Amino acid sequence: MEIVILDSPKEVDEFVASQIVDLVKTKERPVVGFATGSTPVGAYNLMIEQYHLGKVDFSNLIAFNLDEYVGVKLDHPRSFATFMRTRLFDQINVKKENIYALDGSKQDLTQVCNEYEKLIENNQIDIQILGVGMNGHIGYNEPGSDLDGKTHVVDLQEKSITSSLNYGFTKIEEVPTKGITMGIGTIMKAKKLLMIAKGKDKKDIVKAMLEEPISSKIPSTIIRQHDNVIVILDKEAAGK
Ligand code: F6R
Repeated sequence: MEIVILDSPKEVDEFVASQIVDLVKTKERPVVGFATGSTPVGAYNLMIEQYHLGKVDFSNLIAFNLDEYVGVKLDHPRSFATFMRTRLFDQINVKKENIYALDGSKQDLTQVCNEYEKLIENNQIDIQILGVGMNGHIGYNEPGSDLDGKTHVVDLQEKSITSSLNYGFTKIEEVPTKGITMGIGTIMKAKKLLMIAKGKDKKDIVKAMLEEPISSKIPSTIIRQHDNVIVILDKEAAGK
């Protein structure tokens, strides 16, 4: 595991964006798994900037969204699919048919999960972008999740539900209580993981992720078992 501590959130964004841009420039069919949330947005903005400057062409990019709410249509303003579309995909030249998202509004979610697993099996993810939740989750793999798990439906825990108030929901009652997520096993099959954390609020969970025993109590501890993972922190997130 490589840990990179940078002075500012901006430098974290630059580091992450350059990892993705370098992959896209050098690989014929680059496959990237994208996380939502506030952490990677700065990096996404820099990718958009690079695209507009003509420095990178995303037409061959294959994109997988990491997770989604259950019971929310893909085009719902608060869905993670809409988040990724508006914050990144609509602003670069990735092809619509190359963007894969988990549709949590479908009746048969087992089928949705199985199909997603197949898709990822056939398109191994080169770089998976990850953030860490305040309870240590990765994707929506909450504490207690199977460390080998595949794409599945989860009951969201209170901390994750509350955090959704940062994602545009105004009332707690509006926030879905279930999510659908790539499993930890699915995430660990990516060739490379980029785990990003910024800000002082993350310093305790970052310390736990890096120092507590690897267990499903803190799902993000599992990343330490990956043989190609970079943890990118700003000074504040690295504070402990
Ligand atoms: C979102 C996701 C989550 C977030 C985590 C951190 O797709 O997978 O695990 O990465 O909740 O969220 P932020 O970045 O908002 O602190």
